Amino acid sequence: MVVAKNNDIDIEGACGGAMACSTCHLIIDPAWYGKLPKPSVDETDMLDLATGLTRTSRLGCQIVLTEAMDGLEVRLPSPLK
Ligand code: FES
Repeated sequence: MVVAKNNDIDIEGACGGAMACSTCHLIIDPAWYGKLPKPSVDETDMLDLATGLTRTSRLGCQIVLTEAMDGLEVRLPSPLK
């Protein structure tokens, strides 16, 4: 979430990473999803409130990037219509 914000990507992150919103919702490329640490129960509960939830959704603020994630592909969910 911080990396996205620092690179002018339109992600809100309203709670600043406190896992109290789902405005940092990202959709992880399926090829990458299983390579990330599993989401916590609290993250999964918060994701249930996210719009456009997918099987590879994560809260961006809960993904701590490492060198092993170089090349990680994510996308933002589609805006509501
Ligand atoms: S910024 Fe609010 S849950 Fe990630």
